[in-house]
Amino acid sequence: MPHTIKRIGVLTGGGDCPGLNAVIRAVTKTAIWKHGLEVMGIEDGFQGLIEDRVRPLSSRDASGILTRGGTILGSSNRANPRRYCVRVDPKTGPVWEDVTKNCVDTARRHELDAIIVIGGDGTMASAAPLVEAGINIIGVPKTIDNDLVGTEITFGFLTAVNTATEALDRLHSTADSHHRVMVCEVMGRNAGWIALTAGVASGSDIILLPEIPFSMEHLCENVEFRMRKGGPEFAIVVAAEGARPRDGERVVDRIDPTSPDPIRLGGIGRWVADEIAKRTGVETRSSALGHIQRGGAPIPADRILATHFGYHAIKILMEGKRGRMVVRQGNVFADVDLLFAAGKQRLVPIDHPLIEAARAIGTGFGDGRTPEPAPSAEGTASVVV
Ligand code: F6P
Repeated sequence: MPHTIKRIGVLTGGGDCPGLNAVIRAVTKTAIWKHGLEVMGIEDGFQGLIEDRVRPLSSRDASGILTRGGTILGSSNRANPRRYCVRVDPKTGPVWEDVTKNCVDTARRHELDAIIVIGGDGTMASAAPLVEAGINIIGVPKTIDNDLVGTEITFGFLTAVNTATEALDRLHSTADSHHRVMVCEVMGRNAGWIALTAGVASGSDIILLPEIPFSMEHLCENVEFRMRKGGPEFAIVVAAEGARPRDGERVVDRIDPTSPDPIRLGGIGRWVADEIAKRTGVETRSSALGHIQRGGAPIPADRILATHFGYHAIKILMEGKRGRMVVRQGNVFADVDLLFAAGKQRLVPIDHPLIEAARAIGTGFGDGRTPEPAPSAEGTASVVV
């Protein structure tokens, strides 16, 4: 019922990503200018709802932030109301409590008729108990990982791909100069979207995805083929942080015991580089891009996507929708049940058209399925010409 919405809250949850401020701007300006609503900013994601840290957001606050990285509201990837770490007992470890009631009380105290929750699958899962408690939540899909179900794209992803591609381009020239193998580890958690997309965009030679467990033997064969005399004599390997060998596990960088999703991946790039050097004798270096992929200004495509999403969130709210997440499907903006997206991950299908295209042009995935180009055929052709 459109006329019952007078005041809304907005929060950004989970890991930050480029475009968060662009969504806050679109939400705030659309809400104030088009619908005359009041907007309250909730600080540090659900942490602000738990601790009652809520402040008014004016259209002035939302001005000049389109291009800024990070989030003016702050974020947290620990504050899941249903499973919240209230303290760490020195003997038994983290003590968890369900603090959903604090969030509901804060929302009621500030008379929020709805909350726009900007976040990934973990943030949508954190919002679920509030939806069940009767709070109207409208989700906006965020994450550099691009792994939310229900939407073909999340904002932040394209900027991360841009950053990773630029880094890979730079590694290309140094690999070429030194006749080395360069391994670059990118983020993405359990999904290989960043690795696949940046890998293809940069013309990388081998792409390691969580969805395609690799064999070190195949990977090294591919490297050795490229290092042969007369060949390119360098190789670029992109490793998604969630990639793993066929006979091994993902590499975990750290465990954050106070987080409801405690595993932080990292280290596979270094491991792969060491193995390549050991097995082939080729000089190999590794770089991990890490949080560089999350920072900085969003590229134009993400500013536009964020603006669409923010506007669309207010549009569907004013149409009377409840508990929905805005999405883009087939290039059209739509919405799905927020609970459908909560806590699930959209992985790269192993028959994805981009994998097929990459294989066709000789890119390896460490699974031995890329046919080696026939050097003799190439050589003969050049003689004839
Ligand atoms: O989900 C975004 C992301 O950057 C992942 O790609 C990465 O695995 C994780 O967050 C890192 O989390 P943190 O910021 O806690 O190190």
